[in-house]
Amino acid sequence: KTAHLTLDPAFRIGTIDRRLFGSFVEHMGRCVYTGIYEPGHPRADELGLRQDVVELTRELGVTVVRYPGGNFVSNHRWEDGIGSRETRPTRLDLAWRSIETNQFGLGEYMAWVREVGAEPMLAVNLGTRGLAEAVELLEYCNYPGGTQLSDLRVKNGDTDPYGIKLWCLGNEMDGPWQIGHLTAQEYGRRAAETANAMRRLDPTIELVACGSSGRHMPTFGGWEATVLEHCYDLVDYVSMHAYYEEHDGDLDSFLASAVDMDAFIEEVIATADHVKAKLRSRKRLRISFDEWNVWYQSRFPGEAALEWRQAPRLIEDEYSVADAVVVGSYLISLLSHADRVAVGCQAQLVNIIAPIRTEPGGPAWRQPTFYPFAQAAALARGEALRVEPVAPHIDTRAYGPVPAVTAAASYDAESGRIALFAVNRDRTGPLELSVDARAFGPLRTGRHLVLADDDVRATNNLAHPDRVVPRPGDGARLDGGTLTVTLPPTSWNVLELT
Ligand code: AHR
Repeated sequence: KTAHLTLDPAFRIGTIDRRLFGSFVEHMGRCVYTGIYEPGHPRADELGLRQDVVELTRELGVTVVRYPGGNFVSNHRWEDGIGSRETRPTRLDLAWRSIETNQFGLGEYMAWVREVGAEPMLAVNLGTRGLAEAVELLEYCNYPGGTQLSDLRVKNGDTDPYGIKLWCLGNEMDGPWQIGHLTAQEYGRRAAETANAMRRLDPTIELVACGSSGRHMPTFGGWEATVLEHCYDLVDYVSMHAYYEEHDGDLDSFLASAVDMDAFIEEVIATADHVKAKLRSRKRLRISFDEWNVWYQSRFPGEAALEWRQAPRLIEDEYSVADAVVVGSYLISLLSHADRVAVGCQAQLVNIIAPIRTEPGGPAWRQPTFYPFAQAAALARGEALRVEPVAPHIDTRAYGPVPAVTAAASYDAESGRIALFAVNRDRTGPLELSVDARAFGPLRTGRHLVLADDDVRATNNLAHPDRVVPRPGDGARLDGGTLTVTLPPTSWNVLELT
């Protein structure tokens, strides 16, 4: 079987925002406690930050980290997590029916996010709280000093303002599971008023309005339209969240699920642009895709079934090669919309549906899904290019006929580097991909790395942390300006060219 695409520097989608390679740390399960933070662990520093996880996070290449939730934020009091640890209150987290000790809070997060070299992204509680607390939090974080709250930050040891630019106006406020769930009208008003007040304090911030929790939500579409009519000119981004899983052993549909992500992105763009037209606005809203991943949600019994525990083992999905290939296809989907998707956060970073796993007191390791993310974050630089693959179709139950190949490319004019990312969704055999790259003139091919396995269900775990790793592929054959590369069945491929 064969497939074809064209690489041309003139076929520009847009500049890739580095914040497309973000992640998410929520106070949920063991993401924070025994994930990034574990005092007494042999690799913890004096603050309790696990250095093995810091190292893996740097290797993953995350550029921005959203915090502290997620559903958690909608019942969270940010003041509980500042100041002396001995006096911090233990509270009930209603979102995940967990006991929150607040031993890790804002100051620890800022120290950690700086250590991993990422940009902070903070969510405010618009569930049980509102405008006043959001503005107070912003004052604590970003105001230099001389006011009660900024001086409190200084007293707590952080002399310099945090300078946090990216702020989420709540989380999934369309979801009936959200503590303080709102209608689109109610949320739109609350978001607009909060945005207005926060901007007055710090006009340099960027704000994310909550979009839908998923394309499947009954209010999807209408929610975005109503919310944005209230706050379009006051916000910079609308959020998107999407989780996918394999249903009933239907691997073909699962491998094709990025077509749903593509459609979702295009529908949100259409809705935002509709509001732009209606409001006669000159602003072109962008997207913060601040939760996306594979999540075997059907295995999760639901919050109501949880016992009150501290740092329980929640949704610690063990990912396979097939999951990693699917994650690769979502990264391709994000890159293919680089003109409108500015921020992306894979949910989450550690233990909770995460590329990094840890054991309390024990090691940390990379899930198979770690690799496509790390490779894309390292190599997708400069401009995203439209590549338009032409490939045979696979008939899927969920999405109908879907091309066997999905691909994205980037071109960094400064370094002359091109990176091509390609997924072969075909489980039955390899595909010969020919790439017309004549527009680039003479090229040299670099590494071809492949994530694939005879056993697509193979995983990494505590006993076998390196069972699945990327391996060198057959490489590309260059003939004139055309490259030919073999994509193994069910595979994620990265090809570097200069
Ligand atoms: O990432 C897990 C949860 O999924 C988040 O808390 C919530 O925002 C989403 O529903």
